Amino acid sequence: MGYTGHRPALDVVLEGLRRLEYRGYDSAGVAVLDGEGGLAVERKAGRLANLEARLDEVGRDTLTGGTGMGHTRWATHGAPIDRNSHPHRDTTGRIAVVHNGIIENFAQLRAELEADGVELASDTDSETAAHLVARVYDGDLAAAVRTVCRRLEGAFTLVVTHVDEPDKVVAARRSSPLVVGVGDGETFLASDVAAFIEHTRDAVELGQDQIVTITKDGYEVTDFHGEPVQAKPFQVNWDLSAAEKGGHDYFMLKEIEEQPEALANTLRGHFADGRIVLDEQRLADQDLRDVDKVFVVACGTAYHSGLVAKYAIEHWTRLPVECELASEFRYRDPVLDRDTLVVAISQSGETADTLEAVRHAREQKARVLAICNTNGAQIPRESDAVLYTHAGPEIGVAATKTFLAQIAANYLVGLALAQARGTKYPDEVAREFRELEAMPAAVQHALGTVDQVRALGRELSDSKAVLFLGRHVGFPVALEGALKLKELAYMHAEGFAAGELKHGPIALIEDQLPVVVVMPSPKGRAVLHSKLLSNISEIQARGARTIVIAEEGDDTVKPFADHLIEVPAVPTLLQPLVSSVPLQVLAAEIARSRGYDVDKPRNLAKSVTVE
Ligand code: F6R
Repeated sequence: MGYTGHRPALDVVLEGLRRLEYRGYDSAGVAVLDGEGGLAVERKAGRLANLEARLDEVGRDTLTGGTGMGHTRWATHGAPIDRNSHPHRDTTGRIAVVHNGIIENFAQLRAELEADGVELASDTDSETAAHLVARVYDGDLAAAVRTVCRRLEGAFTLVVTHVDEPDKVVAARRSSPLVVGVGDGETFLASDVAAFIEHTRDAVELGQDQIVTITKDGYEVTDFHGEPVQAKPFQVNWDLSAAEKGGHDYFMLKEIEEQPEALANTLRGHFADGRIVLDEQRLADQDLRDVDKVFVVACGTAYHSGLVAKYAIEHWTRLPVECELASEFRYRDPVLDRDTLVVAISQSGETADTLEAVRHAREQKARVLAICNTNGAQIPRESDAVLYTHAGPEIGVAATKTFLAQIAANYLVGLALAQARGTKYPDEVAREFRELEAMPAAVQHALGTVDQVRALGRELSDSKAVLFLGRHVGFPVALEGALKLKELAYMHAEGFAAGELKHGPIALIEDQLPVVVVMPSPKGRAVLHSKLLSNISEIQARGARTIVIAEEGDDTVKPFADHLIEVPAVPTLLQPLVSSVPLQVLAAEIARSRGYDVDKPRNLAKSVTVE
């Protein structure tokens, strides 16, 4: 974060870092310019709270001034220790830099600096930027940053200050996020609007390879060669309350409870005059008609939403759909051409693996449609079309409401394809949409299981491992349930296609091992239902403790369930929207009972901007 304006920079920056901490929490640091040639820096490994304790120790009045910057780190180069924390300074201590991303040619730059006699104080790639700026600085900070950026390879956001220009902050952006907040007599820089939403909702999107200089009166944007650039202003359409816990113990629980609203907002406005409308997308109906194959690329939870979508899109459009991990996609030379539609799903719109997959697809002339929750992020900017999930800010590091919103958005894409290609009659498309529209109420109903599931979570908190089983759309739900438990409770968890169990994993079953089974509806897919009951019998016979998520009123399942969690009856393809809810709550509660920070699991960060 960067700030210059009429308030004490330290307060503004610390408040901003509090709101950005979900993006990285290995260490934190601040720098403030006093306007009289002084630059004070404090940094501390660990959570922001450690930095605040350090500031109390040294006295906050040692960092006074109206210009400053701050950083929370997710470590890439160098362990999360004090000296690797940002901001970094040049050897004279007059320049301060914070950096996100990875400078890929840093070894060469570092060697060059060392050959010049510069002693580096940290193990990071980021520190090189401070020394490089010092080497070329000639009274114009923006010009110096531009020169340095032209030499840097990789992905980066840099924020830089110099004591000789105390009323300015200069920042640069390549493939890593950076937005400007425009206030009254103050200007902000941050990775995410959450950092300044308390002060202003007027924001400016920066593009690829751009440099911005902020002063209290405004901002100026150029490219890396100094050519002026017209940046795009936008209004943030949510307010501070959306980024606060609102009486909940942790953000994740609040976000789980916001799922009905997230779904409703994602669907709103997408059906008019009897047709699915994807108004934010720039693909013509003819483009959709020409599609002969769909790839869905994404990571983690977003990937699981894509796995769910595969079932629906294939069923509705009769197009082959492949869902692939973005980090694998471009390295295996996938078969892509003009008639391939690549759907890139990303909550943040910044995930480096997904961004690179998008770039690869576009190089191969495929059309790319992004599904994204962050206005103006890099992935939608580089895609042919975008469909936003309007889930609001998601602060808990584990994705919840955006998972459900991604499924809904994927379904809109599937229905739009079916409509354009004529594989569904208009009344069928309308019926599917109406069923989707009924989902916020169904998810609200599913939230009625929260107390029961929290109690179960406490009971299971000492387990060594938990397995998750599902079939058809229940399979990706099982994978997602296992991912949530791994990332939050640090517990061994695996999701399996229930039919696959007998081909190996059944050997894992032992007495009292908890196994969560996501049941299909007995009415929707009777054959799947009976097969899954047989799979449960097989594990029960081997001593498993079964936790069964089943449709309300499904009595046949009762003898198979040591714990039965009932969710409302909904059409088969929509079941993931209700059956995921108890799995999210289960993971959060097990994590809480084990004493872990539900919102900030270890080793993770909300947005993964490195490959
Ligand atoms: C898990 C989780 C991650 C993300 C993944 C992709 O709870 O949050 O697995 O889903 O890192 O992130 P986005 O959607 O921002 O591309």
